[in-house]
Amino acid sequence: MTSLLQLYPQQQADITLEGLYLSHDIRSLATDQPYVYSNFVTSLDGRIAVPHPTKPGLVVPKNVANGRDWRLFQELAIQADILISSGRYLRDYADGRAQEILQVYDDPRFSDLQQWRAQRGLSPQPDIVVISASLEFPVAPELVAGDRTVIVVTPDTSDPQKRAALLDHGVKVITVPQRVTGTNLVAALQAEGYQFIYNATGPKVLHLLLADNVLDRLYLTQVNRLLGGSPYSGIVDGDLFETPVDMAINTIYYDPIDVGQLFLSYQKA
Ligand SMILES: NC(=O)c1ccc[n+]([C@@H]2O[C@H](COP(=O)([O-])OP(=O)(O)OC[C@H]3O[C@@H](n4cnc5c(N)ncnc54)[C@H](OP(=O)(O)O)[C@@H]3O)[C@@H](O)[C@H]2O)c1
Repeated sequence: MTSLLQLYPQQQADITLEGLYLSHDIRSLATDQPYVYSNFVTSLDGRIAVPHPTKPGLVVPKNVANGRDWRLFQELAIQADILISSGRYLRDYADGRAQEILQVYDDPRFSDLQQWRAQRGLSPQPDIVVISASLEFPVAPELVAGDRTVIVVTPDTSDPQKRAALLDHGVKVITVPQRVTGTNLVAALQAEGYQFIYNATGPKVLHLLLADNVLDRLYLTQVNRLLGGSPYSGIVDGDLFETPVDMAINTIYYDPIDVGQLFLSYQKA
C-alpha cells in the first residue's frame, strides 16, 4: 500500500493511510460543548460537485472521488455520535446517485471500523440527523433499519402532515423556530446527548455551521485535478459572512497515488 508523506506539523515519511484519521482521535477533543467537524473532497479548482451528466442537479465528481479519500471519510464518520445529512442527500440516495453513508459498516472493507466502535462501547453505527425544510424525501429502509436513531431537524414552518408521516416511520422530529441555524441545530443535538457531530452534507449546511461559529474542524481532500464546470459548487454556499471565519492549519499529508492529492485539516482559529 502506497504510503503518505506528512508535510505539517513536521515532515515525516512512510505514513500509513489506514488509521490516519483514527489517530486524530476526535473523541479526545471533548469540551463542555459538542465538537463539530466536517469533511469535503474537492478538485484543485475547488469544486465539490459538478452537474450530473444525465439528470438535473449536481453530483460528487467521479474523477475526484476516490477510495483513499473515502477510507478517510469513514474513519472520521466512525468517530462521531451522529452524522448530519440532508433532505437532498436522501432524495439522491433514493435516486441511486449518492455515495453510501447509511450502511457502510456492513461492508467488509470497513470491518475494522466496526470493531473500533465496539471496542469503545459505542453503538454499531452513528445516529443520523437530517436537516430539511421541505421534508420532501423518502425514508429509505436502510435509514431506519436496526437500532440507529434518526432525527429530522426542521423549521416549525414545515408541513405538519409530513412531520407526522416521519413520526410514523419511527423518525424523531425536532422543530426549531423559523429556520435551522448552526446554533439551534447544535443546541438541539446537545440536548439529545450528542457530543461528536460529523457533517457529511454540503455547502449550505457548512455555511450555517460557519456563520454561527460552531464548526471546530474542517477536513479537506484536495485532488490535483482541475475540472471547470458550471454552476460552480464549492465547499460553502451562502451570504458573505459578517465576520470572516479564520481557520488554523492542523495537519497536511501528501498522497502520491494517481495525480496526487493533499489531505488537509484545519481547526477553528
Ligand atoms: N465533494 C464533497 O465532499 C461533497 C460533500 C457533500 C456534498 N457534496 C455535493 O454537494 C452538493 C450539495 O450537497 P447537499 O445538498 O447535501 O448540501 P447542502 O447544500 O448543504 O444542503 C442542502 C439541503 O439541506 C437542507 N438544508 C440546508 N440548509 C437548511 C436550513 N437552513 N434549514 C433546513 N434545511 C436546510 C435542504 O433540504 P430540503 O431541500 O429537503 O429542505 C437542502 O436541500 C451535492 O451535489 C453533493 O453531492 C459534495
